[in-house]
Amino acid sequence: MASVQEAGQFYPSNEPVIGATYPGTVYPQNAKLPKLFQPLTIRGTTFKNRIFVSPMCQYSSDNGHATDWHLVHIGGFATRGAGAICMEATSPVPEGRISPQDAGLWADSQIAPLQRIVKFAHAHRTLIGAGRPPRFLLGSWVAPKEDGGWPDEVYGPSDIPFAPDYPTPKAMDEAHMQYVEDAWLKAVERCKTIGFDFIEFHGAHGYLLHSFLSPLSNTRADAYGGQPLANRMRWPLRLIARARAAWDKPLFVRISATDWAEGPEQAPDGTWTQWGIEQSKVFAGELQKLGVDLIDCSTGGLWAQQQIPLGPGYQVPFAEQLKKAYPNLPIGAVGLITEPEQAESYLNEGKADVVFLARELMRDPHWPILAAQKLGVAVKPANQYERAWPTVITPNTA
Ligand SMILES: Cc1cc2nc3c(=O)[nH]c(=O)nc-3n(C[C@H](O)[C@H](O)[C@H](O)COP(=O)(O)O)c2cc1C
Repeated sequence: MASVQEAGQFYPSNEPVIGATYPGTVYPQNAKLPKLFQPLTIRGTTFKNRIFVSPMCQYSSDNGHATDWHLVHIGGFATRGAGAICMEATSPVPEGRISPQDAGLWADSQIAPLQRIVKFAHAHRTLIGAGRPPRFLLGSWVAPKEDGGWPDEVYGPSDIPFAPDYPTPKAMDEAHMQYVEDAWLKAVERCKTIGFDFIEFHGAHGYLLHSFLSPLSNTRADAYGGQPLANRMRWPLRLIARARAAWDKPLFVRISATDWAEGPEQAPDGTWTQWGIEQSKVFAGELQKLGVDLIDCSTGGLWAQQQIPLGPGYQVPFAEQLKKAYPNLPIGAVGLITEPEQAESYLNEGKADVVFLARELMRDPHWPILAAQKLGVAVKPANQYERAWPTVITPNTA
């Protein structure tokens, strides 16, 4: 049996790689593959299927350092056929975390534990990316002082709290924006050393970039805010442009395509009243011009009174609108995608290019192989798990 030694240990090698399809010449059921299992190449990197693990904070880091929890958690996806794994939101500065247990990448000592995870994923031929926020959140839970948090060190574009019982952020001045930007760029360098295959910038869920974008949270009077969309996009675009210049592998950006606040995105007099799909389209176009490779389309998280019509695939219509506006820009759909047929329908109907799954993959890390079984595709489970999956490894010659 061939072996893989690159993670410094013996692993049996898988042929084809875990989560990839068997050749249609030998496996008639693979003559025509569902989109979910068709590989996708982005900036020269080929993702073996289109089932991506959505970033999920585990609140299990040791002073920002990944632990064995992360190895087991992420390793579980790497051994079970995900097309890509996006690691949890990882902060480039310690005070940018939402809790003391968040992941970080502000120190060189944080490289080694992440590299161990990346090497494990690579030994199992799974692409893995860093989920990178500049946090300094506006709209999210903040650890109180008694739990080791830093509610006095919360920054945002303007001094508008997420809700009355949340800390009031300090409006960032230009020097502070530069400090965050530089910290971010250093973290990108660390991502290179670690060997990540892609980076996803977190521009969603009320975190810093989203809070610069939304007119609800950004009422600055300078060139970085207020009513003009160009102002609100200015700093996020500057930051992402610098990251793009420093990073030559795939670069994704997660956005919230709406704040889900009451009323229209724009008042009849032209005033922008919240962040929504029209501004998201403009922003996505600018990101594409900068060379961003994929938009991961989420929603919400910035406005405490948000009204989200939760239901299967509730965010997909936003992904679809971005896809329509930019047919050549890969788009990811996320949010209550739980069924293989459901995921396949979004891809097949051209509403998105990949699906990101979070909670369903926590419930069942085997989802990619189960999806193959349900969709009648032959894919490779890990050698160690093959005996559990006779139907997905047997040519259907009936
Ligand atoms: C435990 C947990 C942690 C999460 N952490 C992050 C995160 O670090 N970054 C992020 O962008 N989204 C995060 N999310 C949101 C998910 O990535 C995803 O967008 C959301 O859960 C909707 O997808 P789902 O219905 O498949 O769970 C988290 C979700 C969960 C359940």
